[in-house]
Amino acid sequence: MKKINVYKIKPGMILGQDVVNREGRLLFLKNLALTKKEIRTLKMWGIPEITIQSDPQKEIQGPTDAKPPDNKRTREFLDNWFEKNDIQNPVIETVYDLCLNRFQNNQFEISSFFGKKDDTIVQSFLNKIKPIKNMHLLLDDKLKLPALPTIFSEISEAIKNPKCSGKDIAAIVSKDPSLSATLLKIVNSAYYGLSEKVESLQYAAMALGTRQVSSLALGITVIDYFKGISDQRINMQSFWRHSVACGIAAKTFATHIKGVVSERVFIGGLLHDIGRLIFLNYYPVEFNALYHQAQKLGLFLYEVEPKYLGITHAHFGSLLAKTWNFSDNISRLIHHHHDNFKTQPPQEVAIVSVSNWLVTAIGIGSSGETGLPALNMNAWNALGITQSALESIIKQIDRQIVETVKFFYE
Ligand SMILES: [Fe+2]
Ligand SMILES: [Fe+2]
Repeated sequence: MKKINVYKIKPGMILGQDVVNREGRLLFLKNLALTKKEIRTLKMWGIPEITIQSDPQKEIQGPTDAKPPDNKRTREFLDNWFEKNDIQNPVIETVYDLCLNRFQNNQFEISSFFGKKDDTIVQSFLNKIKPIKNMHLLLDDKLKLPALPTIFSEISEAIKNPKCSGKDIAAIVSKDPSLSATLLKIVNSAYYGLSEKVESLQYAAMALGTRQVSSLALGITVIDYFKGISDQRINMQSFWRHSVACGIAAKTFATHIKGVVSERVFIGGLLHDIGRLIFLNYYPVEFNALYHQAQKLGLFLYEVEPKYLGITHAHFGSLLAKTWNFSDNISRLIHHHHDNFKTQPPQEVAIVSVSNWLVTAIGIGSSGETGLPALNMNAWNALGITQSALESIIKQIDRQIVETVKFFYE
């Protein structure tokens, strides 16, 4: 008997123990000889590892273990990309290898965040950027902070009621045909791995749970709302790919950690950089200059924000989430996503922090940062993920992101 990573299972291996999913539902009985179909189902359910009867040592020496072919320039780029991280660390090494794979498949985005660079304006600002003192005015409504659509508050209110049913949520969501269509597309994507096609919102709520469908609807509403922001100055698609990927990564981590609320970390991940979007929307020229200033100083944007804007996008986003009536728990996830934790943070905070780092590391979209900070090991350790499960979870996140991100922002 030996535990084996789900990505290293080969057809013909024999289950040594029953396999149950996170909710305790029995998926397969022990002694079953696994075929490709069962292996696919295990991956679909996000099972990180199983116990098998045969000797996995013999089985896993094959092409699946081989490192992807790479070339010198890719390695040079990645060595540079990971320069603030210890490549000898097994977590970093696993992510580094995944990046090599992503390069090979042309999936690694080296993003140029600002579509248009007006160097004259940038130069004139570089010398005279003054801290924006009135950032808090945005929150006092004096600068007309955007209100989210009514449907957003209707869903948020509905889910606060413990008696809220799938039928109630379906009735609210169905008022918006475009929201309904996007939601059904996501529910039917490979991410959820439902065996039958779901054609109605009510059935979607039955299949996935009212809370899960509600948080998806909230996420889609926020993204949809911000689609109106001009795409000329910033690359909005890239921004939302980063944000959606972070939400998906957070939710996937959550399914492997007992006691955390996966819908909450999904929303926290999805909205973690929302403060930056407001900065960009209200102070685009200053922010463009900040971007160049950060590059010149070799700092991250979130490091120069407090000096010039008076507040970080993380803090600002957390205040914004409160004005939109998100719970304090979600606001906290947004607030601390760039913290340099000196001790282990609460697990949900750690999940969003690590997810943000991971999706940045593997090159999915961009929130404007052009470098990769160090992974905070206190945050990583707070997740309690074992080395044997690490690789399969990261691959699972990678696969789910590739399959799902496009449905949120098309
Ligand atoms: Fe951020
Ligand atoms: Fe981010």
